[in-house]
Amino acid sequence: MDKSIGATPKSNGSTSTKTFENRELVLVSNREPYVHEYDDGEIQVVKPEGGLTSALDPMMASTGGTWVAWGSGDADDEASDGNGCVRVPPESQSYELKRVFLTDEQVTNYYYGYSNKVLWPLCHSDTAKMETSAQFWRHYRETNRQFAEAIREQGDPSNAVIWFQDYHFALAPRYVREASPDAFCMQFWHIPWPSWDVFQSCPQYEELLDGLLANDLLGFHLDQYCQNFLDCVSHALDAEVDRENGRIRYDGRTIRVAAFPLSIDAEERTALARSAEADEQWDSLRESYPLPEDGQLVVGVDRLDYTKGIEQRLDALEHLWEWYPEHREQLTYVQKASESRSRIEEYQQVQTNVKQKIARINDRFGTEDWQPIVYVDDYLPLSALAALYREADVCLVSSLRDGMNLVAKEYVASQVDEPGVLVLSELVGAHEELGESALTVHPNDTEAFAATIQRALAMEPSERSSRMATMRRQVEANDIDAWKRNVLRQANEILEREDEAATA
Ligand code: F6P
Repeated sequence: MDKSIGATPKSNGSTSTKTFENRELVLVSNREPYVHEYDDGEIQVVKPEGGLTSALDPMMASTGGTWVAWGSGDADDEASDGNGCVRVPPESQSYELKRVFLTDEQVTNYYYGYSNKVLWPLCHSDTAKMETSAQFWRHYRETNRQFAEAIREQGDPSNAVIWFQDYHFALAPRYVREASPDAFCMQFWHIPWPSWDVFQSCPQYEELLDGLLANDLLGFHLDQYCQNFLDCVSHALDAEVDRENGRIRYDGRTIRVAAFPLSIDAEERTALARSAEADEQWDSLRESYPLPEDGQLVVGVDRLDYTKGIEQRLDALEHLWEWYPEHREQLTYVQKASESRSRIEEYQQVQTNVKQKIARINDRFGTEDWQPIVYVDDYLPLSALAALYREADVCLVSSLRDGMNLVAKEYVASQVDEPGVLVLSELVGAHEELGESALTVHPNDTEAFAATIQRALAMEPSERSSRMATMRRQVEANDIDAWKRNVLRQANEILEREDEAATA
């Protein structure tokens, strides 16, 4: 099997490259793209709902290589070989999934602890929610080391392009480089990067930056996050920082920092929204939930996370039904919610608050024939989600802080019938690409938020069409494939320069 990334285009448009030939792509993420679980004694494969894994799995399926991730399923061990490896996707088996098995203590301290009680609130600039502990940090370091070892077990890092994903692995690039100084490492940070004054509140800021600077290429969604990162480096480390060109000289090496806004497989989402499967799913959703026969449908799709602004959105809807009573018995809001990180108190609190608010609003405005808010926390297949997006007149994205937010893009790609309106918080990364054609809200300005929903619901079809057409062009042109091409092209340029320097 050819494991190289050889087909990556060069910046000059030619199709083959010297530098990527013979290098295997090794993708590293915390969450795995396929989880094996026992169901009534039988082993089942489940695809987690997360944005990262669903965005990168099609890419890995076409590129091939190895995906190293935490083996979190109770049947993962049994379904893998002696090295923790299994070929996936199950239907086409085009790449290797190598599982790293973690103890309960590691999961508590590395995943729930340092990753999600320190780095997550820190990077979302919510430092009051940070909970620091020596245990968290110790396990984060050790687990990063374990992942670095798992990468080495798969093959010589010097012959690979190692692509770390996200905030779970700020130190692993350094551990890989310590053992293999000429490895090519890159990392994409899927969440925001905060300003220096916020980042400084983390006691390990120096080690985190040092770890990340063991990469050759570091990617963020937005230029703003790149600038924040460069600023943090110039404050915390003895490094030369070239803000204009996104370059850092540190420890005798050059690190490139660049923005690559993550996206979705727009074509697949559009095809799904047009599919007969989506029609069937829509019928079954209508049988299972009190969805309106007539009237307008508004949708929100979120992980139950305090950064998503779900409570603020519910406040705006309540205000709308209170001050614009013509929407009572006319507008139904569907909240699709996925449980997330439930062992963390703040997440339990969001779940409770959201449910309580919904119950109160339904109680206040609901009638015998109409339930204002329909809460869906069951797993929905992608085709059902596509149907929900397709049928929704308005989609509400109201995060308080969000690196990108792929829901906004999924909604746009699924608008294959009469176009709806995207109402988008100005605090999400996707606002940079879609903000001109979406209706912008500030999630904390309840009255203005409600008035914007009102405007969206009343928008003329011609205006909806032209706004949606612009957003669709944007999402189609800048899809997941373009993202992958841009990242790999940039990586390839760096590799070529390194080759040239080595042979000069
Ligand atoms: O948005 C950041 C992120 O890590 C995504 O990459 C991922 O899909 C999502 O959060 C879910 O997180 P978790 O893996 O903790 O469920």
